Amino acid sequence: MSDSEFGAPPSANVRFTQIGKALPRTDAAGKAQGRTPYAGDYIMPGMLHAKVVRADRASARLKSLDVSKARALPGVACVITGADLPDRTASTDIPGQTGQKRLDTGQQILVKERVRYYGEPLVLIAAESRDVAAQAAALVEWELEPLPGVYDPLEALKPGAPIVQGTDNVVAEHRIRKGDVEGALAEADFVIENTYLTPFQEHAFLEPEVGLAWVDENGVVNIRMATQVIEHFRPIADAIGVPHNKVRIRGALVGGGFGGKEDVTVEIYLALLTLHTGRPVRLEYSREDSFLGHGKRHPFQLTYRTGVKKDGRITGLDVQILADAGAYVFLSPYVLLYAAVAAPGPYRIDNLHVHGRAVATNNMFTSAFRGFGGMQACAAYEQQMDEVAKAIGMDRMELRRRNFLKTGDPISTGFVPPSAIWADRCAEEAWAALGEPTQPSAPHIRIGRGIAAYQQSYGRLTFLHDTSECWVGVEVDGTVIVRSGVTDIGAGQISALGQIAVEVLGVTLDDVVIYNSDSAVTPLAGTTTATRALYMTGNACKQAAEAVRARLVARAAQEFGVAPDEIGMEFNRVFAIDQPDKSMAFVELVKICASEGIHRSELAMFRAPFTDRLDPETGQGQAHPDYTYGAHAIEVAVDIETGEITVLKSIAAHDIGQCINPAAVEGQIEGGAQNGQGYALSEEMLYREGKLVTPSFSEYLMPTSMDMPKVQCILLESRSGLGPFGAKGVGEPAITPVAPAIANAVADAIGTRVFEMPITPERVVRAIRETDEAAARTAPG
Ligand code: MOS
Repeated sequence: MSDSEFGAPPSANVRFTQIGKALPRTDAAGKAQGRTPYAGDYIMPGMLHAKVVRADRASARLKSLDVSKARALPGVACVITGADLPDRTASTDIPGQTGQKRLDTGQQILVKERVRYYGEPLVLIAAESRDVAAQAAALVEWELEPLPGVYDPLEALKPGAPIVQGTDNVVAEHRIRKGDVEGALAEADFVIENTYLTPFQEHAFLEPEVGLAWVDENGVVNIRMATQVIEHFRPIADAIGVPHNKVRIRGALVGGGFGGKEDVTVEIYLALLTLHTGRPVRLEYSREDSFLGHGKRHPFQLTYRTGVKKDGRITGLDVQILADAGAYVFLSPYVLLYAAVAAPGPYRIDNLHVHGRAVATNNMFTSAFRGFGGMQACAAYEQQMDEVAKAIGMDRMELRRRNFLKTGDPISTGFVPPSAIWADRCAEEAWAALGEPTQPSAPHIRIGRGIAAYQQSYGRLTFLHDTSECWVGVEVDGTVIVRSGVTDIGAGQISALGQIAVEVLGVTLDDVVIYNSDSAVTPLAGTTTATRALYMTGNACKQAAEAVRARLVARAAQEFGVAPDEIGMEFNRVFAIDQPDKSMAFVELVKICASEGIHRSELAMFRAPFTDRLDPETGQGQAHPDYTYGAHAIEVAVDIETGEITVLKSIAAHDIGQCINPAAVEGQIEGGAQNGQGYALSEEMLYREGKLVTPSFSEYLMPTSMDMPKVQCILLESRSGLGPFGAKGVGEPAITPVAPAIANAVADAIGTRVFEMPITPERVVRAIRETDEAAARTAPG
């Protein structure tokens, strides 16, 4: 590709004054000063406190449940069991979709008879205080008769295995076929096969699930809460048996989501308790509730069989994917689909077969998590690239260079992304930025380096027909208001809308207030998931602001006697370009427009590309609007005596299209580097027969600031994306390549690979020992 095709500087008449600048975000000061109210900060007079009582077995039949002592406790207002509820399920809709068909998950609201996972909710309690609610919970008596359970997807596939969901535990299956894989493998000089294991992961947001619900004067159930998806008001209404317009979700700034607040969490419990009691009810999860109460990242087993020529050209690839869906379906079909589409990575592979299955077990259910299957695929395809390079004796970067997708190439589904494919540039830049190798500090320290490139979608599946709305208006004093249902999960979603609106209107970020995240009064913008918020709502905001601008500009052009395209608006001034004498303050123009009844606001809807579903036999077609490409490079030091790994350098290079706010982009990338490093090395969710035995941060080890190197960000801007001003998305891409880059660096350091994440010290020592033993066995003499 050439620079003139993608990546040319903006044309002369596009001079950004607000976007592309690291402006202090609109949400920054309140957070830094501790003034920002989060959902958990809201209280109401007469408020009750709720508690969820959970099953203490993973696979069982509820033989008896006695809540009489809990109900009799003074201060208890309400106790609800499954037997008290009509036969409605808490279906997972496709989050935030307007009228899409739901997944038939049969997720019961409270256990009626069968328990499918450890921690499945049994009883809801509302009481005058948290203490009383906890005491009442301790008075609930039940008997759970154990049923045979299954805790491994391979076991769950065997004939005669306990059935958790459906008829055979397979809750989703997806295939991609193109070209002739077996033929391609037969003509390859080498065929390299490996299986990679990826683990559960906990979202570990700072802010556990929390909400406050009440019934207002219109009989509407209001829920103030921390969520990525205010449009869950529809399945919530269905679950509690009221019309859709009788549930209102009022968001707040969210203290971290990462996909863990993409499904319904506390909403239905709150709604039921407030309806039953007629009083406001607050529910805040403890950290342990949060560990037990929301779905995790799917563990994957990925088997890659790669055919390659001596010259490094990949001829064909067969990929088998098995995902542990846990006890309920939730978003497993979509996570699996993302993984299948991503399976070959940012490489041109014309002979491809992918077969993926998501399988139900009695483990904790698994659902959305930053990277959404694409990240698990990357963990495998980038480790496999290094294994292929090693097997054929080729430099790792050289093998990648010979296979990278180029702009205009079709991806796995046959779709040609409309934007630049700069995986190659990003990989080169990240690799070069590693600089001179660090020297080992002692004989038992080994230094290693790794690279991983990726492709990750931004925007939702195109067959979901995604839309987003945003309203932009100018007040009579020249200030700007943006209204959007978008939820801000900490990445600066609303501040970015502000930056876009003021860029278009020629004012500054100080001039704008953004109202967001209210399902009843802000225009519905869809979910903050799927790296879509900037792409979708950013475009809607830009469209709305441009419509307002066009009407203001037309009036200014009339005032100055010039054509509309000769009008400029910057820094609160309106002027005729090249005629400095013709200018006025923005507020003066707005006042003229207001006095003449010129419309100063606009509600815009942005529509993503709409397509049919992928071909069910071949998986060919368009899956997503577009893709982000990039790479991560890592240097590690490994202590071969203890197995301890220290990450020395962490370098991210992403083509983010166009930065709206580079500081926010770097924030995403730094967070992704940390999130991915924990996944690769230390975060371990251990389940014993479905029971989580690591339900706190003293066992579940996230990297702290002490474990993190300074993350270096290399931001490339092809300006070719489908987002506003050519932006792509970076929220999920930031994590995608991190773990395999670390795994490749560790393998480089110790000369052997640990095929299972997290790469704990125990696994490192074991891998070194096994390699040494194998070498001793084959050594001559
Ligand atoms: Mo998500 S994993 O918040 O789409």
